[in-house]
Amino acid sequence: GTLFLNGRYLPPDQASVSVMDRGFLFGEGIYEVWLVVERRLVDLESHLKRLDRSLRESGIPVPLERAELVAILEKMVCLNNVTNGFIYLQVTSGAGERSFTGTATGRPTLLIMAQEKDFPGAISQSEGICVDLVPDIRWLRRDIKTIMLLPQVMAKKAAMAHGNKDAIFYDDEGVTEGASSNVFAVMDDKVILTRPLSHSLLPGCTRDRIIKLAREAGLDVREQVITQDQLFAAQEVFVTSATYLVTPVIRIDGRTIGNGQRGVVTRQCQDLYADYIR
Ligand code: PDD
Repeated sequence: GTLFLNGRYLPPDQASVSVMDRGFLFGEGIYEVWLVVERRLVDLESHLKRLDRSLRESGIPVPLERAELVAILEKMVCLNNVTNGFIYLQVTSGAGERSFTGTATGRPTLLIMAQEKDFPGAISQSEGICVDLVPDIRWLRRDIKTIMLLPQVMAKKAAMAHGNKDAIFYDDEGVTEGASSNVFAVMDDKVILTRPLSHSLLPGCTRDRIIKLAREAGLDVREQVITQDQLFAAQEVFVTSATYLVTPVIRIDGRTIGNGQRGVVTRQCQDLYADYIR
């Protein structure tokens, strides 16, 4: 494969970053992940908007103008021959001395990687995943897509050790989001709940798209906090992200959700999303 690092296209083993990079030393960096379907970046614009927002909110300099960035993203799809897969982009505030506030001259570090991954089944994955439900120990600006992912790594590794696939976080109000996804619950009366946007969760591009598609299809989506009780009482639960697309959740903390199988509303959202991305 070929990656992009600070203006150059390189094989991974020839790409290196300074140990003084502030992403390495402080975790001062943000990222994006695009789903690529048939060589197109899904929801290109909304991810670019979120990228801008993450940069602005974290005070990390904008590495490139948008048009230039889009050209590089598209070139990466071609160079790596990605028909279906993912594009990963990361920006850190660059190298300097190890000082919390950094140096004014630091140029941001921009890394872009592409990964081919065939997911014909995953687009409408019928198999559900089992997850842990754990306290959200992250910081209080989860709306910024930061590379500071230690809590997510810990939660996912702990879930794996329990034989589960992933983790869902909760705070004092209820479910915040998955460790790398947003959470939807389908209640008895077919109402679909997902937490309203705030600093407590990432504004997922897939979340946004699913809300739009589901509403257009006449489904009743309400942006409301999902309490823990509602989560376990739900008929269906599913998660969304650039990598999960729409994936059913069938067990949470060992408790079966609904009838333990992908539900009809989840299936409907998968089909809506599949039609949208193809
Ligand atoms: N994660 N919430 C969190 C904490 C996430 O990390 C992600 C995405 C989402 C879903 O956002 P989107 O629908 O825009 O992908 C929600 C990416 C895929 C990752 O970390 O690999």
